[in-house]
Amino acid sequence: MKAVCWMGAHKMSVEEVPDPKILNPRDAIIRITTTCICGSDLHLYNGFMPAMEAGDIVGHEFMGEVVEVGPGINRDKLKVGDRVVVPFTIACGKCFFCQRQLWSCCDNSNPNYWIAEQMMGYSPSGLFGYTHMLGGYAGGQAQYARVPFADVGPLKLPNGIADDKVVFLSDIFPTGYMGAENADIERGDTVAIWGCGPVGQFAIRSAFMLGAERVIAIDRFPYRLQQAQQGGAETINYSEVDDLVQLLKDMTGNLGPDRCIDAVGMEAHGSGLLYLADRAKQAAGIETDRPTALRQAIQACRKGGTVSVPGVYGGFIDKMPMGAFMNKALVMKTGQTHMMRYMQPLLERVERGEIDPSFVISHRVPITKAPEMYKVFRDKQDHCTKVVLDPWADGAAAA
Ligand SMILES: NC(=O)c1ccc[n+]([C@@H]2O[C@H](COP(=O)([O-])OP(=O)(O)OC[C@H]3O[C@@H](n4cnc5c(N)ncnc54)[C@H](O)[C@@H]3O)[C@@H](O)[C@H]2O)c1
Ligand SMILES: [Zn+2]
Ligand SMILES: [Zn+2]
Repeated sequence: MKAVCWMGAHKMSVEEVPDPKILNPRDAIIRITTTCICGSDLHLYNGFMPAMEAGDIVGHEFMGEVVEVGPGINRDKLKVGDRVVVPFTIACGKCFFCQRQLWSCCDNSNPNYWIAEQMMGYSPSGLFGYTHMLGGYAGGQAQYARVPFADVGPLKLPNGIADDKVVFLSDIFPTGYMGAENADIERGDTVAIWGCGPVGQFAIRSAFMLGAERVIAIDRFPYRLQQAQQGGAETINYSEVDDLVQLLKDMTGNLGPDRCIDAVGMEAHGSGLLYLADRAKQAAGIETDRPTALRQAIQACRKGGTVSVPGVYGGFIDKMPMGAFMNKALVMKTGQTHMMRYMQPLLERVERGEIDPSFVISHRVPITKAPEMYKVFRDKQDHCTKVVLDPWADGAAAA
């Protein structure tokens, strides 16, 4: 089959690889009909995530049809022919954490837990296509994928609903939603959101669903800010502002936003000396992540407010404004998304017509074009917001 493989920093390649096979009784094989490139994949592309190996199949936002199920799966749960969307986190459904709905903390799905333990103390769950530290699982930018614990994660879809409307239940819609939920939004709150990528866009819409009165969205790309406005947000182009924190104070009667969401993560862009220092330290491997947005969110948040961090961080950051965080009595919530809490309820919102997640799609290409689209998406060229890949289009179908 064809699959997108990481071959080194800035080097993705479509390779011919063996089809996946059932390895464990609770596995299923999915024939993928739609798959996407995520902002998280850019951290791999740019070489900032540890424990990648040349040849790794990437991708964690995919859906398709079940073509094989292992003997350990109850056919009432999943059977050949079911159409499913697959969550990017892999969870066993039985451990301490799964029992508490902390799905992205599953204790049984990362066989390489020991690598993560060295960096983080404990390992989170395994993820599709996202480093050997997080399981070394083959990802879903491919024609087929093996899905472990397939009786837990995949969500069965009703017939007739288009892939475009439901594929983002695999990650970014639940991620934006959990980002908003983690912000503890109360009716009437003002919510500031850093980053107007797909995660930020879904966080904006989810914040309103959860009762926000105002959302202030921050980015530097006018076309993304425009999409934020279409979602009801007021916007700030931070590249045109000297003092973002002061502007947020001015916009909120000097109180500060009640809730601040960092939907940017470890590769934030910025300006000034601190940003240059972060870039230099990141390049030298002294600091793994560049936390411009997180620092600003902590500084800007009103006293006693909440900072929610759906943006991904990989390792260690410098100059964390811990004094502000502590003295302002802030709360911080974060995590890889606990996907299975959100997929069914958000599917129901899509079915009721409350939201059509396909609004984020800007590019639709055959999987063979994935390598060039990584660059287009990374550099936000051609008004790129979200790239959807067709594993079977054109030349790919001949495989
Ligand atoms: N927690 C999870 O489970 C989870 C799941 C999916 C994605 N993510 C993470 O969410 C983040 C966003 O993903 P995405 O797909 O939207 O990516 P993206 O790259 O499309 O969007 C990031 C946006 O942040 C903006 N940005 C950069 N620096 C900024 C700054 N200083 N202030 C304000 N905006 C800034 C960029 O211009 C860009 O529009 C990534 O870190 C990704 O890894 C987390
Ligand atoms: Zn993702
Ligand atoms: Zn588990």
